[in-house]
Order: sequence, then C-alpha cells, then structure tokens
Amino acid sequence: MAHCAKPSYHSRPLMSRHDFQIPVLFKHRIVFTRNAFAPENPALAEILAEGGGRRALVFLESPVATAWPGLAAAIHAYFQPLGLEFCGTLEFPGGEAVKSDSTLVEQVWQAIDTHHIDRHSYTLIIGGGAFLDAVGVAVATAHRGVRLIRFPTTTLSQDDSGVGVKCAINGFHKKNWIGAFGVPFAVINDLDFLNTQTPAANRAGLIEAVKVALVKDRKFFEWIEAHLTDLAALEPAALEHCVKHSALLHAHHIATGGDPFETGSSRPLDFGHWAAHKLESLTDYALHHAPAVAIGVALDTLYSERCGLLDPAAAARILRVIDELGLATYHPALDWTDATGQRHVFTGLDEFREHLGGELTVLLLKDLGTGVNVNHLDRPLLGQCIDLLRSR
Ligand SMILES: NC(=O)c1ccc[n+]([C@@H]2O[C@H](COP(=O)([O-])OP(=O)(O)OC[C@H]3O[C@@H](n4cnc5c(N)ncnc54)[C@H](O)[C@@H]3O)[C@@H](O)[C@H]2O)c1
Ligand SMILES: [Zn+2]
Repeated sequence: MAHCAKPSYHSRPLMSRHDFQIPVLFKHRIVFTRNAFAPENPALAEILAEGGGRRALVFLESPVATAWPGLAAAIHAYFQPLGLEFCGTLEFPGGEAVKSDSTLVEQVWQAIDTHHIDRHSYTLIIGGGAFLDAVGVAVATAHRGVRLIRFPTTTLSQDDSGVGVKCAINGFHKKNWIGAFGVPFAVINDLDFLNTQTPAANRAGLIEAVKVALVKDRKFFEWIEAHLTDLAALEPAALEHCVKHSALLHAHHIATGGDPFETGSSRPLDFGHWAAHKLESLTDYALHHAPAVAIGVALDTLYSERCGLLDPAAAARILRVIDELGLATYHPALDWTDATGQRHVFTGLDEFREHLGGELTVLLLKDLGTGVNVNHLDRPLLGQCIDLLRSR
C-alpha cells in the first residue's frame, strides 16, 4: 500500500520571487545661450512649452542678483507672455556656507509649499554650484522631486556641476553627504553670467575642464595647452569654448557611460576629488572646491607618475597647465596630522570609498586623456608626492 504522506510545511514553495525591469528614460536638455531672459530669446520659452506645466518659481542667488541689477525684473517680464503662472523670484544667499546645514533647504521647501509648486510646475535655480546644490536638494525632495531648470552662473557650475545629475549638501563633516540623483528638466548655460565673477574664480573653475580632458579627451587637453595664455587672460572666445566642450564631455559621460546614478564603484569624473573633498572639509570649507580640485588633480597626477603609470613628461605638462591657470598645487592641510602622525587627508580615501560603497576605486592617469582605475593607493608614496608638491 502506497504511503500517503501528510502535506508538510516544506511541501509548499519556499518563496516566490518576481523580478521586473523598469526602464526609465530621461531627456537631458542642455542649452548654451546669452542673455537668456531677453524677451526675444526663445530658449527658455521653448523648454517650458515642451513640458506644459502650471507654474514657475525662481530661486536666485543674491550676489548674482547684485551683480546683475535688473535681472529679477527681466525674469518677470520674460514670463508675462508665457501661458503659465509666474510665482515670482526669491533671493537667497549662496556659496559653500549654504551647504553646511539644512536652513536653505527648509526655506525652499517652505516656498515650494507656499506657492503650490507641484510636479508639473517648474523651479528655476540661478546661481553658482553651491547654490544649485543646496536648492537642488530641496527641489529633488519636495513632492519627491519637482521639475528643475538650472541656470549655472559660475565657470565651474557651467563647465561641470550644472550639467550633472546630482545635488547635495554637506553633513557629518563630510562633503556632499546628504543629497539625491536626478536629471534636471533642463540646463541653460547663459554665458553672459561668466562676466561678473572675480577673474581668479573664473580661471579656477576651468580646473574641471582640465580634469575631464585628462580622463576623457587628449585632444581637448592639447587644445587647453595651446590656448593657455588666452584662457588665463579669460579671453571670451577661448573661455566659452572651454566651458562648452567641458560641459558636453561631462554630459556625454553621464548619458553614455552606463552608470549615470553611480551605482558602481567607479567615478571617472571625480579624478583628483578624494583629496579635494577632504581638503575642503578639513579647512572648514575655507578652501573652495575649484582650488581644492587643482591640488587633488596635481596630487593624483604626481602619484600616477611615481607609481609608474604616467610618463613624467606628461605629468609635467599637467602641472604646468594648473600653474598657468594661477592655481596652487599645495595647501598646508595636506600635512595636517592626527595624534599618531597620520595625515588627516588620507581619511579622504576611506570617505571616498564609503560614499559609493564597494571597493575603493580611484581613477589615475596612464596617459593624457586616458584613466585607469586602481583599488589601492600607497600612503607612503602619496606622502612623497605631497613632499614634492610642498617643495615646488
Ligand atoms: N552636484 C555636482 O555634481 C557638483 C559637481 C561639482 C561641484 N559641485 C559643487 O559646486 C560647488 C562649487 O561651485 P562654484 O565653484 O560655482 O562656487 P560657489 O557656488 O560657491 O560660488 C562661488 C562664489 O561666486 C558667487 N557667484 C556665483 N555666480 C556669480 C556671478 N555670475 N557673478 C558674481 N559672483 C557669482 C557666489 O555667490 C559665491 O560667492 C561646490 O559645493 C561643489 O561641491 C557639485
Ligand atoms: Zn568637482
């Protein structure tokens, strides 16, 4: 007689798993223009019309408003003939200080609520990289993200951060600890804004163009070398070409690199940034992003050379470009140590790894325009590179 077993707990399926692919496609609209709020300039109107939408609210960084008297009035006039409700232009301070806590983020949340900005409405942010980042955090989280049109106003934000797909404020004494990924509805790079920065800040922002050239485009690096005098003098045609080409290289990598939201461990656009971010936080952000990146790029260039990856002549060419842009390659914070004599800056490597997760992955250079990922940096050798930078 057949034995008839009682159904047991284990005879039922242990689990039921269902994997879905969720394709999400974003359009990254990037415009280069001048005088974006002149009534005859169609760039913004076309973008607003493309998305339909109900309302628009503008966040303007106050030093930009001061540098451009009449800008708020021009924005107001620009919106009048458009068929959406204009909720006004709100001014707030900017600079790295606004990334140090959540004050500005909360003010922007409040404004978004007060003006009933919904996911079909637009927020416009006009300002430098820090302002774009901090207001961006509020915009990315209000209603889980409302439409954002960025107007970067500095060289660095036009040639790099403005066309990026992330935003952040600083937290726990770490750079960009609180933030989000998201593709802006559009980025309008109004090249006229570049005219009112200090010449030093204008030149310094070109370091991100140098960086992206080094990791992506040897010809562009050679173009920068060939136009160094013009770039250092902020000759408009050279400056604008450099900003535009850099922005497009950044955007091209984000769109085609296969990991726009950085789920892996590799961050090629962050060449030189592990030390840069740590130097910024070590100095309580007295050292700004662009000069910090110049030091970080110089350090990782020398390290690439000293560990045998990069030809010394190529390294010398990179350091010359940084010098000619008037950027320092050393800051005393590189030598600040803890009680055990360890350089504080080296903890930047741990923080860099932890920010992404996974294995430490740092991009070094094996040639001009060609990077290579490594998973370990030798701290004594890094120390020797810092010695070299100090003595230059
Ligand atoms: N989200 C990203 O992907 C990303 C990428 C790179 C850098 N960043 C961030 O960008 C920030 C640096 O941005 P930044 O270099 O633009 O500096 P910034 O935003 O601090 O601006 C520098 C100074 O210039 C002033 N300013 C801005 N536009 C001006 C104009 N047109 N005329 C006169 N003054 C003007 C500002 O008020 C500020 O005092 C850092 O916080 C960095 O972490 C973000
Ligand atoms: Zn940067």
